[in-house]
Amino acid sequence: MRLRAIVLAAGKGTRMKSAIPKVLHEICGRPMLWYTVAALREAGIDDVIVVTNDELEARIGEFRVRSIVQREQLGTGHAVKVALDALPRFDDGRIVIAYGDMPLVPAAIFRETADALDSDGAASMALVTVKMPLPSNFGRIVRKGADVERIVEARDASAGELAIDEMNAGIYAFTEGELRDAVANLKNDNAQKEYYLTDAVEHFVRQGKRVRPVPAADHLHVLGINDRTELAKARREMNARICERHMLDGVTIVDPQTTYLEPELRIGRDTVIYPGTTVSLLTEIGEGCVIGPHTRISDAKIGNGVTVRESVIVQSEIGDGSVVGPFAHIRGHAKLDGDNRVGNFVEIKNSHYERGVKSAHLSYLGDAEIGEETNIGCGTITCNFDGSQKHKTVIGKNVSIGSDTAIVAPRTIGDGALTGAGSVVTKDVPPGGRVAGNPARPLAPKAKPSDR
Ligand code: UD1
Ligand code: MG
Repeated sequence: MRLRAIVLAAGKGTRMKSAIPKVLHEICGRPMLWYTVAALREAGIDDVIVVTNDELEARIGEFRVRSIVQREQLGTGHAVKVALDALPRFDDGRIVIAYGDMPLVPAAIFRETADALDSDGAASMALVTVKMPLPSNFGRIVRKGADVERIVEARDASAGELAIDEMNAGIYAFTEGELRDAVANLKNDNAQKEYYLTDAVEHFVRQGKRVRPVPAADHLHVLGINDRTELAKARREMNARICERHMLDGVTIVDPQTTYLEPELRIGRDTVIYPGTTVSLLTEIGEGCVIGPHTRISDAKIGNGVTVRESVIVQSEIGDGSVVGPFAHIRGHAKLDGDNRVGNFVEIKNSHYERGVKSAHLSYLGDAEIGEETNIGCGTITCNFDGSQKHKTVIGKNVSIGSDTAIVAPRTIGDGALTGAGSVVTKDVPPGGRVAGNPARPLAPKAKPSDR
């Protein structure tokens, strides 16, 4: 049986007071629409169609869904009709409908709603209901025994109906032929002069067909985002969920409320994350690491047993056993092979440290290749930019770069070489070479006893 989902996201989202379409506002680093599409896919619904407006249509490519533009927003029922008119017809198929402003809906709820159509005698429509504290702007569920008889929008409700605390969450499943029939018959004789999808309930009940409620356990699961206070609430809830998943997988998160995670991270067990830490994009962190406090790691790969304190790591790789921080900034495709030490106030950009390289204090290493076990003294700078172009610095193995060395790139310093404190290196240094001064010159060979 064909199962498709239609996500309604063409509304103007006026209460966000924003130039950006509502469903593109982010929670935990992803647009809210991303979560709805991901949850539908997780529920086994691969064919997802999003109803967009012109602004959203311009950005819909990133979601890898089919989209249909609803030019005029005449209501949720109209949005569904516009979508169905543009889709091939499968009368005995099933259609799940979701609203794009509800990013917290777990996959299980979509699955359960779709399954409810066929359980316990066929129904024409299933819909998620939720008990919610009053007052609320949600549509009210008017029941007739175990079934739903009507949904009344808050704006159209009588005082008695407003006292009902069972609400329409805004998640539905239909058999397709019946849905097509229902939306073709909707009227807009209500307070907003809109075609309400929710009026499909009365359409079915009039024909003696069944509408089955699917109660949701937690009203946070169906939180609809209409303004930025709700956006913040949803972020908090989503972050708590992501943290919980990692904690259950063996990660210690000292304070989930001040640890900001995103949905697609991999974090190994026995890693400990301290407060004030943000981990984002497709970052992978290995096992037994210590991360934070006050650290930002984005789109990075961190090995096993790595310590990162009060530092920023962006688009870079840190190998096993390395110690970073406090106050280091590693960025721009830097790669540290492992057992590295990067200390206070060190910036590394687009550089490669082989195993055991150390730069413990106050340095800038940009566009550099550094060989095994080399020590970069405090205050070292690779002068990689000549005002118009970037140049490379190559430093060999077991080199000792003295404190406050400036290396004017492009430059090569051979294996086992040494620069004295305060050197300004303007010429290549051969393997084993020893230079010092400004500009750096070879040091006189050490006096041998026979020279005296
Ligand atoms: C809707 C429900 C209400 C439910 C609530 C849950 C209707 C009539 N009412 O009300 O019963 O309790 O959701 O959050 O459905 N949209 C379009 N095109 C349109 C109009 C809306 O795509 O022409 C989209 C919006 O972008 C939004 C969704 O449909 O994602 C819901 O619309 P919204 O205006 O937010 O409906 P609510 O008033 O919240
Ligand atoms: Mg809404």
